[in-house]
Amino acid sequence: MAELAIIGGTGLTTLKNLEIKHRQVMPTPYGEPSGPLIHGQLCNKDVVFISRHGRGHTIPPHRVNYRANIWALRETGVRSVIAVAAVGGICEDMQPGRLAFPDQIIDYTWSRQHTCFESDLDQVTHIDFTEPYSEPVRRLLIKAARQLKLEAAEHGTYAAMQGPRLETAAEIDRLERDGCSMVGMTGMPEAALARELGLCYASCAVIANRAAGRGTGTISMEDIETNLVSGMAKVRRLLETAIPMLEGVSCRESRP
Ligand code: HPA
Repeated sequence: MAELAIIGGTGLTTLKNLEIKHRQVMPTPYGEPSGPLIHGQLCNKDVVFISRHGRGHTIPPHRVNYRANIWALRETGVRSVIAVAAVGGICEDMQPGRLAFPDQIIDYTWSRQHTCFESDLDQVTHIDFTEPYSEPVRRLLIKAARQLKLEAAEHGTYAAMQGPRLETAAEIDRLERDGCSMVGMTGMPEAALARELGLCYASCAVIANRAAGRGTGTISMEDIETNLVSGMAKVRRLLETAIPMLEGVSCRESRP
């Protein structure tokens, strides 16, 4: 049984080196996940892969069925999740093509289905979310990046924005004043749902562009795509280094 799931984001709708064993369509109490779960082997380890925006990259961030995705992954029996996500870089060191492993998150999204704990409850449940990401999985990613000598920010606060539009320069100024170093559209409610369902979840962010007002001129999709090609090549190497080291990682989230 696979221990690890990988959620692919923009620029990573397939995992080239994944030796696919089978595809699983899994209905959930929350509806359809973004696509079939892909069961396969990467570096001789069983992993489950799902593309967050669907195989053809057709589901925008605010329409992703985060609850179905996380519920379906949990049903496969995985304990850990590495969530790959494209972000805009707010801080100076968040330059396009680099990686970042956030350790905090602020949720600016609205009207998304953000909890699995709302009906059929024995009692009202509040999860602890002081540290939103799994430190053991983060450490694994950091260790792999260091081993590969990849430039990667080992800390940072992820601002989860609603999208699908990019931000105004004033919004990015505000996020920076709030202490955010990177901005994306998919980090929430994904991280919180993973915690609710007892999965050890960490994010591997790829800087796709300088955030609004932090670079020169407008942000073009062409530039984002170019930066993601080089960034995702690093992610693939990172995963191939990290996955064989997964066994030593102790995951301590409690499963409901
Ligand atoms: N803002 C929000 N989400 C993003 C960005 C951005 O600049 N780049 C990639 N995802």
